[in-house]
Amino acid sequence: MPSTSRNRIFSGIQPTHGIQLGNYLGAIRNWVKQQDQFECIYCIVDQHALTTVQNADEMRRNTREMGAALIASGIDPARSVLFVQSRVEAHSRLAWVLNCVTPLGWVNRMTQFKEKAGKQRENAPVGLFVYPVLQAADILAYRATHVPVGEDQKQHLELSRDIAASFNRRFAEDFFPLPEPMIQAEAARVMSLRDGTKKMSKSDPSDMSRINLTDDADTIASKIRKAKSDSILGISYDPENRPEASNLLTIFAALSDRERADVAAEYESASFASFKEHLAELCVEKLAPINAEMRGLLANPDHIDAVLGDGSARADALARPIVDAAYEAVGFR
Ligand code: TYM
Repeated sequence: MPSTSRNRIFSGIQPTHGIQLGNYLGAIRNWVKQQDQFECIYCIVDQHALTTVQNADEMRRNTREMGAALIASGIDPARSVLFVQSRVEAHSRLAWVLNCVTPLGWVNRMTQFKEKAGKQRENAPVGLFVYPVLQAADILAYRATHVPVGEDQKQHLELSRDIAASFNRRFAEDFFPLPEPMIQAEAARVMSLRDGTKKMSKSDPSDMSRINLTDDADTIASKIRKAKSDSILGISYDPENRPEASNLLTIFAALSDRERADVAAEYESASFASFKEHLAELCVEKLAPINAEMRGLLANPDHIDAVLGDGSARADALARPIVDAAYEAVGFR
């Protein structure tokens, strides 16, 4: 049976509308850090994105832009495997097997499906429903041991563990390791700038609710200036009563690599206006170099395509023997 002798990281991001600050602080910064310690495999999950993006040109453009954004954020394709999900057949091959060992009731409990399908449940694509099973296949096809994600993915990762255990019980003891989530303590849940009780998200209809990695300095400053605030004096961390102030503090602390308490102490008697002015400067300072690098990379699309092509070939070589062995374990070979 193919095995991994050391810890192996796997994570993925949908190529929907680029990277927003929540993705960056909640996941990608952590992905970048992990490269020093682990073997890392990072995937642009275009098959997941097909549940919502159903236009070929848009899909191709988004995938390339996501490749550029990840490299610009610090993912090093020489050290990590950076690739595109649909180019590695192992994911869909394994997904079917896992669909067959996953009880319907487990998938029915997934809150993300309920949120995304909303009132349109009957019209939602079946792919959106089995989305978390494909996510389990992504991770297990590499026998990954650790998965760095934001908090919103916690339930999907618990399901991945249950699915791995279900396969192992039926077919081969210890075949898949049970993957461990790695969730950042500080910025695991970055909230919308318009509503501190809602997650910052690429799919929020209001662009003012999020900072995109591609926003220019003026846009970032204006979004932060207009971010929802409250009328309490000073800045403090109190997610129950002051969700917006708390979210801005979290963003400030994460971007400056400082403790939240330390930033809160510095701004305890500051006005929202001056706190936001400093936060806007900090955001621009941290994001502008990534933005510039990304634009430079996108000027040479052939290079990005070649990097993703090379990563996909490497990913295929890692996953194929594992999924072949899973096929053997179920009797397909
Ligand atoms: P996606 O594309 O929605 O988001 C990518 C990563 O960003 C994190 N994230 C956040 N973190 C903190 N605050 C936020 N507001 C915020 N918004 C997003 C997400 O938690 C995620 O880590 N289903 C996954 C993609 C996926 C995957 C996988 C992840 C497919 N296969 C296998 C891990 C392993 C998703 O939709 O992520």
